[in-house]
Amino acid sequence: LSVLTVCLLGVTAEGCGSASTEAASEQASMMRSASFGGVTELRDENPDPKIVEVNLTAGAAETELVPGRRTRVLAFNGSVPGPLLHARVGDRVIVHFKNDLAEPTTIHWHGLRIDSAMDGTPQVQHPIPAGGTFTYDFVVRDAGTYWYHPHATSLEQVDRGLYAPIVVEEAEPPKFDAERVFVLDDVRLDDAFQMAPYGGMSDMMMGRIGNVLLMNGRSKPTSGLKAERGRVERWRLVNAAGARVMAVTVEGASFRVIATDGGLLPSPSTTSTVALAVGQRFDLEVTYDKPEAAVAQLVALVRTSAGATQKVPLAAYDLVDPGPEAAAAARPVYPRVDLPAAASAPLEKELRFGMVHSGGMMMMTINGQDGMTLPVERFEQGRPVRFTLVNDDTMHGHPFHLHGNFFQILERNGLPANEPGLKDTVQLLPGGRVTIETAFENPGDWMYHCHIVEHSENGMMAMIKVQAP
Ligand code: C2O
Ligand code: CU
Repeated sequence: LSVLTVCLLGVTAEGCGSASTEAASEQASMMRSASFGGVTELRDENPDPKIVEVNLTAGAAETELVPGRRTRVLAFNGSVPGPLLHARVGDRVIVHFKNDLAEPTTIHWHGLRIDSAMDGTPQVQHPIPAGGTFTYDFVVRDAGTYWYHPHATSLEQVDRGLYAPIVVEEAEPPKFDAERVFVLDDVRLDDAFQMAPYGGMSDMMMGRIGNVLLMNGRSKPTSGLKAERGRVERWRLVNAAGARVMAVTVEGASFRVIATDGGLLPSPSTTSTVALAVGQRFDLEVTYDKPEAAVAQLVALVRTSAGATQKVPLAAYDLVDPGPEAAAAARPVYPRVDLPAAASAPLEKELRFGMVHSGGMMMMTINGQDGMTLPVERFEQGRPVRFTLVNDDTMHGHPFHLHGNFFQILERNGLPANEPGLKDTVQLLPGGRVTIETAFENPGDWMYHCHIVEHSENGMMAMIKVQAP
């Protein structure tokens, strides 16, 4: 098990060594784009300040996930993750998309409450054939951190690298000294540093857990990056992994959770670790306020097979004192956020998630059957619905995702949940039960599904329809 396991364990070894040229180029690109910590942005071709118009291509590419090694990937505009889509709340976004893959695809804008015709599932559009084009055109209604990825029938497209972040800024964004985007992923590489073969019974059950952690498409933090003591930053985290819950913390700085899937929270919350279900986002306010710390880092907490917790650094900044001329640090002021209160007489529904074996086949189920064979359930727009999500499987967790509408998490296993904010994804633990509530304020045809593709493509996905009253 060579280099890869060693990288994952965070120990310096061949292929995990330092890469100072990388640091130099990252610093240079930070100077150029100034924002989001050097993540590439899609270029807005439209002079109208209320329209973001971009060109996006999906195709095969080669990239260095592990320093010094080339891996064949699928990529948006040649990079993993793909370029950031950056807009402001209320903007119209036009995406001229070209499919240079060898197979059909679509793009889903995970978490955005947009027109359902633009939602990118094969239920609302014909998949774009190889060589084909499609123009996505929608208005972004909600500030927050989101991501985009294919919603095609192929299990492999997202895992091979087709995923990218979206930032929708608030109308009056709180001010930070810097903003950074961290897209987390894991990949399973073989000894030749290529994507290991797909499929197999164990992946059907567990999802595909990788052997290399990636942060913005790199297996190890870029070395030589600096941050100044006293500064306050916004770190936007996205979990784009196929099946892994990403538990992370920040060392050498203090942090608070300020936003989640659907944008800013009514008030920041403190916690020691943040667990991101597949598909979820959390924004952190990070303050470099530890005079004794030499380095601030984003660290993944990885459970080893022996049951221990291994710390894997994902990003690291050498802390320096600001010069005497340095301007004062930002003091972010958060806008007032009011979330809807729990409804007094919601419609109540139960969804049970499970698994059946029949004739040597295994199928993931919603209410006992393949979700796509369930009748399309209709809901009235604006009418609150409380769903109890029950995981009848005591072995496997399911990251439940609802398209086009936010919900709030009310309870876990019958007790009040402490997971504030508007959500589009929630982790359903093995044997667990979660109560969520939505008012279905966005009409259209929507899917809900487990975000582990092996599960959703094998029965754990269903359609609903939200209708104007
Ligand atoms: Cu992020 Cu239906 O997906
Ligand atoms: Cu699942």
